[in-house]
Amino acid sequence: MEFPTLQVDAAQLVSELEQLATYSDCSEPPPAVTRVVFTETDLRARDYLRGLYEAAGLTVRVDAVGNTFARWEGTEPELPAVGTGSHTDAIPHSGMYDGTVGVLGGLEAIRALKRSGFQPRRSIDVVMFTSEEPTRFGVGCTGSRLMSGAMTPEELAGLQDEAGTTYDEVRSQAGFEGELTSAMLDKEAYSAFVELHIEQGPLLEQAGEAIGVVTAIAAPATVHFEVTGEGGHAGAVLMPMRRDALAAAAGMVLAIERLALDSSSPDLVATVGELDVHPGAVNSIPSRVRFTLDLRDIDGENRDDVLDSIIAACTQIAAGRRVEVSHKVLNADPPAVCDERIVDAALQAATKLGLPHRQMISRAYHDSLFMARVAPTGMIFIPCRGGVSHRPDEYTSPEQLESGVATLALTLAQLAS
Ligand code: GLV
Ligand code: MN
Ligand code: MN
Repeated sequence: MEFPTLQVDAAQLVSELEQLATYSDCSEPPPAVTRVVFTETDLRARDYLRGLYEAAGLTVRVDAVGNTFARWEGTEPELPAVGTGSHTDAIPHSGMYDGTVGVLGGLEAIRALKRSGFQPRRSIDVVMFTSEEPTRFGVGCTGSRLMSGAMTPEELAGLQDEAGTTYDEVRSQAGFEGELTSAMLDKEAYSAFVELHIEQGPLLEQAGEAIGVVTAIAAPATVHFEVTGEGGHAGAVLMPMRRDALAAAAGMVLAIERLALDSSSPDLVATVGELDVHPGAVNSIPSRVRFTLDLRDIDGENRDDVLDSIIAACTQIAAGRRVEVSHKVLNADPPAVCDERIVDAALQAATKLGLPHRQMISRAYHDSLFMARVAPTGMIFIPCRGGVSHRPDEYTSPEQLESGVATLALTLAQLAS
């Protein structure tokens, strides 16, 4: 095809990213951001986005859980559409680029294509997925899980937040109504889906490359553990008598780290990022500890094998310390392979723009992991400074954003022609 000549307005995009970052519940000012799904802040951010979509002449549809679709109608609107997009929720004390680059960058890609005079044959949607981050309900990608059937409406509706309120209650309090089944996508909805995202790792920056074309997305699992021992007075109970739940949990955390280090797969990573100690008093022996495990690998079978070994190790440590351990697998998703046609389109776009690029895997998960179940899917990465993400100092430059948006736009143009 003949590629359109684009002018990406990076300054406008940066100012929109900065404005979006002001919708935050973080105790620190932007660029530190906290934006949890279905809070007032999330709703205000959604209103801001809606204004931008409408100003760009897009038609907005919101589904029963708040997934938002801003459509640029093609000349043959009855054809399956092309989708792009990402998320705008942000984990506590994080940065202003994770996810937002895919939503506002997707919008800027459409505006740049419109300015160039390009006319898509297929409609193009910018999708904003509800709750990619697991902060509130323990499981990430709730919007795309529902859309793709990776989670049933019943499973989703029953998820609870820390206050014990169900997903179903929280979404309707936030103003999102309708049957959850109506949010499920049929396989004809999208002929292609492509997500623009910061790399969240250091490889592109280290190599001086502008674009990563993703070929596969790693398989994530989330597991909750609960260790129950016996509490008591920190002065009165002598050491040999103790059944300290935190000391046992500490051994489990170290065993998890060891098993991950010893894994035959270099891509396997394990993180214990949350630990809740009960009763949590300086002079009280911990009687109960809950902790979370985040375990990922590009090789789903290896991930499952390591999970089995972790569970066996935790059981053994518990027996040796006379405490109980139980676990619950919240999700254990298979990896996704990106569609060759989309990979090729993104490679051609980067080549056309003269941008140094590489093919790579995504170690983070994304809504694309689930979109891949209902549509041919791909992802485009841009570098971020120091590979830093999920931190306030997450940063990608206006030039890097411009390259990513231009690559996305030319990819969309091919897929929508
Ligand atoms: C998504 O934010 C992830 O944790 O990979
Ligand atoms: Mn994230
Ligand atoms: Mn993200």
